[in-house]
Order: sequence, then structure tokens, then C-alpha cells
Amino acid sequence: MILQKFPTGFLWGAATAAYQIEGAWNEDGKGESIWDRFTHRPHTILNGDRGDIACNHYHLMPEDVSLMAQLGLSSYRFSLAWTRILPAGKGQINQQGLDFYDRLVDKLLKANILPHVTLNHWDLPQALQEEGGWVNRDSINWFAEYAQIVFERLGDRVSFWSTHNEPWVIAFLGYAHGIFAPGIANFSQAYQTIHHLLLSHGKAVQIFRQGNYPGEIGIVLNLENYQPKTKTEVDRQACQRAYDNLAGLLLQPLFQGDYPQQLFQWLGQHQPVIASGDLALINQPIDFLGVNYYSTSAVSFHHHGGLLKTTSQPVSAPGWGKTSMGWGINPAGLKTVLLDLKDNYGNPKMYLTENGCAFPDFPDSRGFVADWERINFLRAHLLAAHQAIATGVKLQGYYVWSLLDNFEWASGYQPKFGLVRVDYSTQQRIPKQSAYWYREVISQNAVAI
Ligand code: FCB
Repeated sequence: MILQKFPTGFLWGAATAAYQIEGAWNEDGKGESIWDRFTHRPHTILNGDRGDIACNHYHLMPEDVSLMAQLGLSSYRFSLAWTRILPAGKGQINQQGLDFYDRLVDKLLKANILPHVTLNHWDLPQALQEEGGWVNRDSINWFAEYAQIVFERLGDRVSFWSTHNEPWVIAFLGYAHGIFAPGIANFSQAYQTIHHLLLSHGKAVQIFRQGNYPGEIGIVLNLENYQPKTKTEVDRQACQRAYDNLAGLLLQPLFQGDYPQQLFQWLGQHQPVIASGDLALINQPIDFLGVNYYSTSAVSFHHHGGLLKTTSQPVSAPGWGKTSMGWGINPAGLKTVLLDLKDNYGNPKMYLTENGCAFPDFPDSRGFVADWERINFLRAHLLAAHQAIATGVKLQGYYVWSLLDNFEWASGYQPKFGLVRVDYSTQQRIPKQSAYWYREVISQNAVAI
């Protein structure tokens, strides 16, 4: 057995998001979010599932922190429900909401687990959506107000802050394809959303710097590995467009202060409105980049392929099947993504803020899940990350998605992503085989092959 050691101080974490686990959707003064509204509409979510109760983490939080401590996590990434803190999105503060996160942060620190807080993991206050949501330029100030309140309350104890989780998903699944909240289908709104998310990120970073808080701040992007389906020039160019629209659209303004120009020609009338000074606000130094990596896809030209005339299909490395999301499994794709960031965006300090997989997970008669497929998946991706680190990639931590089985957005409760199984009828938590495996990885700071 060979042990692949990770650098000393490497962070071992797991991640969740408020709407996916908390439940208590209307308790203790919490306001309505766009996900509350969306899931309460018929035909939006598989099986009509909704996050009203989810994993009941709002009530079971102390128990969940004990679980994390048993796993030996050195960090935990979670998001705040904006509507617990500002029920109408701005103005009146709900102290009970802030108190909940205050208790969570203290419990984590007591268990030696560094908090990684995501400010926006998609659950925008519904009251703000009624004013146009992220399409309204005022969203920059709404987010700044919220960020400031949270920094003031938790900034003395939180080690890592992510402003937004996956702006691409918010913009395209929420505002262009309408399959996520707020359920809008309009490309102009989607690109404007991207621009305002980036601006609000920049503004929050500015506020964070002004406050001299002790932690680090960054943003989390979903970066898939795109490969051209064939060697033809049309497919190569299609792949470039898909890349520009996913990665370049965010990485270029963040790290280089401009948007991908060729992509913008394809967008035509859907280009966002950009005011002078905007790109400078976006292009501010961040302390880390959060990378969410799940899959690889082959991209080709297709004349019915929407605005960009592209289509894509999942790619798995030989011997790997697909996850229950239908996503291709290709651990080497993670290395490709990390090397791209090193070679083309100045080798930023990074955390792998999400990586994981959904599989059917059949429990035995005691409710135990022997999820060897998940272990194989995680091990292979960690080895790819290890190889990337060996080439000089500045990856300093890894968070499994997810700590718990939870509400997987439009797919409801069917996909199981957790290291820990949740029996939704009893809310019992049952660590899976992968949880025991991960505990071992953490205690050795190494992956055994
Ligand atoms: C990511 C999301 C996360 C979870 C995983 C499977 O896009 O950030 O909330 O749904 O996918």
C-alpha cells in the first residue's frame, strides 16, 4: 500500500448549503426566498419535493456538528440563508437568524473545525426578486448591505468567506433556462445577472478589506472540463465558446479585468450593460478561488444548439460509468481544470470547494450504506488533485459534496450525495462506508492506493 501524502495543513472538509439542509423555512422570523417560492409552485421539482423540512439541520445543528467532529473534518463549508438574517432582503434585521449562525460558528470552533461561509448559495430573498432580483443593478447594494451585517457579526471568527456559489448556475439555470429558481427564461437577464453577481462580489470584497477582518475571501465557480467532441475546426471552436461561456465569462473579469470578446460577439443583443469602472471593481485581488468540479463533457457544434450553437454530452474515463445525475466521471478532468487555472489565470491559491457524486446507495437492513462507488470516485479525484499539487497548483483544501444526503434542487431528494445517509422519515443520520473511509484519509492526511 502506498500513501499519497497531502501537504501539511491541507484542509479536509465537507460542504452543504442552507436551502438544501436547514428546513425550518418559515420559522423564527425567516423570510421567504426564491427557492421557497419556486418549490411551492407545481411541476418545478422532481416528485414535488421541497426544502421545507429538508434535513431539519436548523434544529439538529449541534448533532450535525458532532458528526463532523467524529469524521475529523478540519473545515466545514456551509451557506447562510439571507432571509434568516434579512427577511425582506434589506432593512429590518432578524436577530434570531444571526444568532443561529453565531451558535453554529462557535460550535464549529469548539470542535476545531474552521468555518467556511458562503454568503449566497442561490436562495435570494423573494422580496428582492420582486424588484427584479439579480437583474436589477441595485442588487449590488442589497448584497453589500447583507455582507456587511454578516461580516460585522461573524467576521472575527470565520476563516473563509465565499461571496457567491456558482454564478453560472444562478444565471443560466435560474434566469436563462428556468429550471432553477426564480424560473425565468431570458438570455439577456442571465448575462446581466452574471455581471451583477460579479459586481456585488467585488463590492463585498471591498467592504471586507475595509473592515480588516482576519479571514480570507474568494468566490466559488463551477468548472467543468470541456473537450471538443471531434478534431474538426467547428467542434474545436464550439468547445472554445462553451469554455468561454462557463469559465472565461467569470475567470477573465475576475483575474484579467475583461470579458471574453469573441463570446460577446455571439451574444449580440444579450450582452450585459456594463458601466465605466465596473471591470475594475470586479478585478480585485481575492485570497482564494473556490473550484467546484464534478464532470467532463464533450462539446460539439450543433445548429440547433441554442445561442452559442453548441451541444454537449457526458464523458467518462474508461471503466467509469455515470453518476445518478447522468454526469460523466473523469478524474483526470479535475487535473486539467486545475492546470488551466495555474497556467492561464496566475496560479491562484485554491480550495476544491465541492467534489462528489450521487449514486443510488442501497441501505441494508440496518440502514447502512456500503457505498464503494463513492469511495472509488473520491479516491480517484483526490489522486488527480494530488498530481496537480505536485505540478505546482496551489490547492490547499478539499471539501466533499456533501456531508449529508440532502435536497438536490430540481432533482429533489432522489439523488444521494452524502457521506452520511439521512433517513428522512426519522431524520436519523447514518454514516456511510465513505464516511469511515474519509475519516481515515483525514487522519493520515493521505490517500492510500
Ligand atoms: C453544485 C451545487 C451544490 C450541489 C451540487 C451537486 O452545483 O453548488 O449545491 O447541488 O452541485
